[in-house]
Amino acid sequence: MRRHKILVVDDEVPNLRLLRRVLSEDHDIFEATGGKEGLEILEKEQISLIITDQRMPSMTGVQLLEQSLTLRPDAIKILLTGYTDVQALIDAINAGHVYKYIPKPWDADELKLTVRRALEAFELKENNDNLVVELRAALAELESLSVGTIRALADALDAKCDYTAGHSLRVSRIAVLIGRQLALPDDMLRDVELGGILHDIGKIGVPESILWKPDKLTPEERSIMSRHPVKSAEIIGDLKGLVRAREYVKHHHEYFDGTGYPDGLKGEDIPIGARIILVSDAYDAMTTDRPYRKAIGHERAIQELRKLRDTQFDPHVVDALLALTEDGGKEMDKVIKEQFDESFIGLTLASVDPAKTGKQYREEAERRARLANS
Ligand SMILES: [Fe+2]
Repeated sequence: MRRHKILVVDDEVPNLRLLRRVLSEDHDIFEATGGKEGLEILEKEQISLIITDQRMPSMTGVQLLEQSLTLRPDAIKILLTGYTDVQALIDAINAGHVYKYIPKPWDADELKLTVRRALEAFELKENNDNLVVELRAALAELESLSVGTIRALADALDAKCDYTAGHSLRVSRIAVLIGRQLALPDDMLRDVELGGILHDIGKIGVPESILWKPDKLTPEERSIMSRHPVKSAEIIGDLKGLVRAREYVKHHHEYFDGTGYPDGLKGEDIPIGARIILVSDAYDAMTTDRPYRKAIGHERAIQELRKLRDTQFDPHVVDALLALTEDGGKEMDKVIKEQFDESFIGLTLASVDPAKTGKQYREEAERRARLANS
């Protein structure tokens, strides 16, 4: 056990000397002849243990211990009392202020043992408190690492293809709105949001010539393209806290009737987050411009979703989106662009402006058209 600082308070100086003699071999002793003086010492010194007499002229021991709570809440408190102070003692113990009382006159060995036990309790609590602090710091670091990694990944995709990053952010938001509509719990909404942002991250490995191809893909190109959900999941890897989001990402191209990829999962075997991301992805793809075609608009997108309800899409998820877009998608669009709480999971993608989605693509397409004509 390390040396601790112990405050001893008694209005009778010989008692203080006695306490010092018994305890000063192992610890640093601070003496006070009254409560006021004791509080002054508590203010300055990192006291681990307070031993106080109960009967003192201006302030009782219990009063001192009560007031010491704001200065040294963790210090262990021991009260020295005579048998006549039973009521004060009971009150103090009931109020949780006193670790132990020692009846007067006290025995030196017993006192030493009590002090030792008290300081062990103090050290144990101190260790626990430190552990909790360390654990919190480690968790916070992990969390910030994960969020940092996600941002880095999303930014990398953004750099490669502006259209895709804006798309991911919108898909993520639509997916959360659908998830809320389906009354998913908060922790699942978080994973849906993360999954939505990361679902196409595997496209980082797809060549630009395929990503930007305005024409129909060849079978070989399509097979490269269709590996992206598994690639996305691989990129996410075993990032702590993303285990469920990774499953949503991996299966976001599974179809409700089992004809999707990569695993041909069917119906409710497909994770709910993946079913939601699929519908959000399809809706957003149809309502925003893409390299290979213009947006078809809300009405036709809804028709399409209705048509593929039960085959491609989970009917409940489609219904949730229909309920959300009864006004033609205006309100949802507004929420996605302006009102969405970006701190939903503390993740903000400042570099991505959903309103500018497709801008880079359009500019690039125009540039290519100019080059082709010149
Ligand atoms: Fe995808």
